[in-house]
Amino acid sequence: MREDRLQKIAARHNLLLIEDAAEAHGAEISGRRVGSIGRAGTFSFYANKIITTGEGGMITTNDAGLARLMRRLRDHAFHPERHFWHEYVGFNYRMTNLQAAVGLAQTERMGAIVAARRRLRTWYDERLQSIPGLQLPTEARGYRSVFWMYACAALIAPLQSEAHDGSAHSVITLENPASLPPIV
Ligand SMILES: Cc1ncc(COP(=O)(O)O)c(C=O)c1O
Repeated sequence: MREDRLQKIAARHNLLLIEDAAEAHGAEISGRRVGSIGRAGTFSFYANKIITTGEGGMITTNDAGLARLMRRLRDHAFHPERHFWHEYVGFNYRMTNLQAAVGLAQTERMGAIVAARRRLRTWYDERLQSIPGLQLPTEARGYRSVFWMYACAALIAPLQSEAHDGSAHSVITLENPASLPPIV
C-alpha cells in the first residue's frame, strides 16, 4: 500500500505507524527511504540481511522523545541520574562496539551492496523471463526494491489434468503474500 494511504489510516484511527523494514535497507517509496515514513522504522542486522552485524538491528525515528525512551529501554531502563535505579522494566538490547564497527563499515558499502542485488535481479530476469508460466518479481512505479529476495510465482499445469475439475491450470503461488508484487 502507498505510504500516504498508510499515514492517513494511522492518523484517522490515532495509530502509531511503525514500519517493519527488516530486510529493506535502502528501499524507497516515492523517493523516500523506508524507515523514514512512519513514526519509527525497524531494521534487522541478522546475518542474511542487506546490512549485517551478525545479529541485532536498528530503529529509526525522528521523534526525539521516542528515541530517548528506546535508548533507555535497551539499557535496562536505567535512570539517567540515579545509579542502578530502574524506572520501569527494561531490556538488554545493547549492541557491542565490535558489532557497531562492522555495521558502520557495511553501511558505507550499502550503495554498492544494493546495486549488486539489483544487477542480480536483472541477471535472473534475463534467464527466467522466457519460461512460460513463471511470474517474475515486478517493481511498481514509485517503488525502488533492494531485492533482498527474488520470489517468483509459478503457474504449473497439473500432472493429471483429468483428475482436476476441468480448469486448465493449478495456480501455485508462494504462500507468503509478501512475496507477491506490491498492490498499488
Ligand atoms: C519482515 C521481517 N520482520 C522481522 C524480522 C526479524 O528480524 P530479526 O531476526 O533481526 O529479529 C525478519 C527477519 O527476517 C523479517 O523478515
